[in-house]
Amino acid sequence: MSELTDQKAASLAVIAAAETLEALDAERVAALGKKGWVSLALKTLGGMSPEERAEAAPAIQAVRADIAEAIASKKDALEAAALEAQLASETVDLTLPGPDLPLGSVHPVSQVMDELAEIFADLGFAVATGPEIEDDWHNFTALNMDESHPARAMHDTFYFPDTVPDSAASSTAEVGHKNRQMLLRTHTSPVQIRSMKEQGAPIRIIAPGRVYRSDSDATHTPMFHQVEGLVIDRDIHLGHLKWTLETFFKAFFEREDITLRLRPSYFPFTEPSVEFDVGYANEGDRRVVGGHGDEPGHDWMELGGSGMVNSRVLEFAGLDPSEWQGFAFGLGIDRIAMLKYGMNDLRAFFDGDPRWLSHYGFSPFDQPTLSAGVGARA
Ligand code: PHE
Repeated sequence: MSELTDQKAASLAVIAAAETLEALDAERVAALGKKGWVSLALKTLGGMSPEERAEAAPAIQAVRADIAEAIASKKDALEAAALEAQLASETVDLTLPGPDLPLGSVHPVSQVMDELAEIFADLGFAVATGPEIEDDWHNFTALNMDESHPARAMHDTFYFPDTVPDSAASSTAEVGHKNRQMLLRTHTSPVQIRSMKEQGAPIRIIAPGRVYRSDSDATHTPMFHQVEGLVIDRDIHLGHLKWTLETFFKAFFEREDITLRLRPSYFPFTEPSVEFDVGYANEGDRRVVGGHGDEPGHDWMELGGSGMVNSRVLEFAGLDPSEWQGFAFGLGIDRIAMLKYGMNDLRAFFDGDPRWLSHYGFSPFDQPTLSAGVGARA
């Protein structure tokens, strides 16, 4: 029995002196492992008489419990010390600069759409949207361009081979084979129809988005961007249209000396119709918007079409033309983006070249606001 006491004392000394978890584990194996001295002592119980065993067993079990407990508490102490040491060596310096992560940039078209939304929101306009895959009824017929209308030919429309079933139409006016022909919308004007049908009047919306025409050169791409504007109320007239466009362009180009010229024109969905031009000057090879187009060194540039919404369009959209009237305009977004930010090839807009984007793009952290400047450049 005294041999066991000696072994226990020796083992407890080794445990107490262990400086690493490895050393401690080696002692655990030496004592409690299958061939450890505690296990061997337990095996001797088998050869004892019942009386001897009754005396020896509790003593050996007690030794085993003491050793196991000593190992467990030493293990806790060693682990705590290891954690302590790790925390001390791995202090985080919060004053260090963060790693330089690659950051994308906002495409000028998206930037300009945000600027538009910001400026028009200030004038009380909400943003409306409509589908790019449109049906013929919304893109043409409801805009007073029936099947035989010559203006349709000007649109170079991309048609889909399919028509959708009459059951997809929301009113009987929209049924019929030609009306159900699907196409890529050629302008944002069908959003006028959808907004009037959905919201009724009064109405004050802009609808920015993609439009498609089968056309391609340095100033035309098969996909481009327009913003539609629509105001319907009881007493809206052409003066409101002119003021709205002028106010918009002043805010957008961030200069006061914007002169707008309205020229009589024709669109089937407006009556009267006007195209609007702004005065600009050539500075080097850049066109800079501002000033009166008739001044020396200046000229006029057409920016879009507009007019008073044709009463037939109001009827198609379910509004009573004896009660409601208003104006609509359509404006090329890519065009005004090029003018404002000095880009000269429209095709580069849609090439997805990261070098072009990092040069002309905007920081995602610079949100356009009227107070901070809508065209804040990173
Ligand atoms: N939708 C016309 C176009 O794309 C522009 C326009 C919109 C004209 C609204 C008048 C009113 O050319």
